[in-house]
Amino acid sequence: MDFQNDDPKTSNTYPLRIQPLRSTNKGYYPTDKIVTISEEEENGKLLGEGNQGSVRICILTYGDPREDQKVAVKQNKRHGGKCAAKKEIEILMKLGEHKHVVGFIGYHFDENDVLQVMELCSKGDLFNVVNNRLISTDPKHALNPHESLYILRQSFSVLEFLHSKRVIHGDLKLENILISRETSTQRGVEHEIKVCDFDKATQLMEGDFASEECGTIIYWAPEIAKCYNYDAEKKIWTKQKVLQYDTKVDIWCVGVMLFIMLIGDYPFKEVDTEKTEPRAIPSFPNNLNRFLHGLLMVDPIERLAVVQCLTMSESGTMEKQEERRKMRRAMVKRVQPRS
Ligand SMILES: Nc1ncnc2c1ncn2[C@@H]1O[C@H](COP(=O)(O)OP(=O)(O)O)[C@@H](O)[C@H]1O
Ligand SMILES: [Mg+2]
Repeated sequence: MDFQNDDPKTSNTYPLRIQPLRSTNKGYYPTDKIVTISEEEENGKLLGEGNQGSVRICILTYGDPREDQKVAVKQNKRHGGKCAAKKEIEILMKLGEHKHVVGFIGYHFDENDVLQVMELCSKGDLFNVVNNRLISTDPKHALNPHESLYILRQSFSVLEFLHSKRVIHGDLKLENILISRETSTQRGVEHEIKVCDFDKATQLMEGDFASEECGTIIYWAPEIAKCYNYDAEKKIWTKQKVLQYDTKVDIWCVGVMLFIMLIGDYPFKEVDTEKTEPRAIPSFPNNLNRFLHGLLMVDPIERLAVVQCLTMSESGTMEKQEERRKMRRAMVKRVQPRS
């Protein structure tokens, strides 16, 4: 795929022809099937807006209305032939098959825009879920420990996959966690997540460190924040040093997300440059305090690695299973008939 040399053949008006992609075990290849995105029903409904463009609901039609599919289309502006979305699309094409990464369907480009067609996650993003909770519950609380742990486990599963492919997401935050399904249970709502927005992702080539600008200030890991100088008067951050970070920045971001999910606030202020002492952390069950401390370790070397996170979240389950087994054994003893 080469956006810069490709000759744009279509105009910037709907319906748009997009280049659908067929997935094989060797990667994605364009098929000869023409897909149109038509303007009907909810088409055009704005799902979100960022620095680079907007995301809207569209209808993907294969010609047969029975096959019509609602999709999300992210529209990015091309700046003088340069395309910020190119990297994002290339990375998504490689990763879109993980069950917790937003599904990639295809792309389209013309002189002005690049359109990225993705599966539609109809339940919105995690920022809205947490925010709605904070607005609607009294006393105010965000997600409960079970709900938070449910999301945490899926985040670790994505990170293990990304990091094994040497990809750093670089901008994990509640806004970039989409919800594809939610199920109400006695212990709370279980949200199925899909990570999106690979705009700031890095594919590590040689070496283990990246130096591209990444992230959102309030989620910046300390190793990123320390490369910037904050001018409190002008309220601006200026880069002072070359950045050097690795996959551990994603772990930090999951720590920030967990903090917000459980406590309903950010662990640090946007202007904190040190990030050594987060806001007070109350006591939580299921290893959650160990996670909060381990994920928000200032030193990236000491910060939990994704493999440790997975083991810890499994051991939580194992402890619970063992507890249940013990209870069952105790009950069996109690109800056993006496001879
Ligand atoms: N596939 C999708 N399904 C539903 N909503 C989406 C989808 N992709 C993005 N969004 C919404 O649009 C917002 C912006 O999309 P994102 O890819 O994060 O773009 P940006 O780079 O502008 O932040 C997200 O925070 C989310 O609310
Ligand atoms: Mg985003």
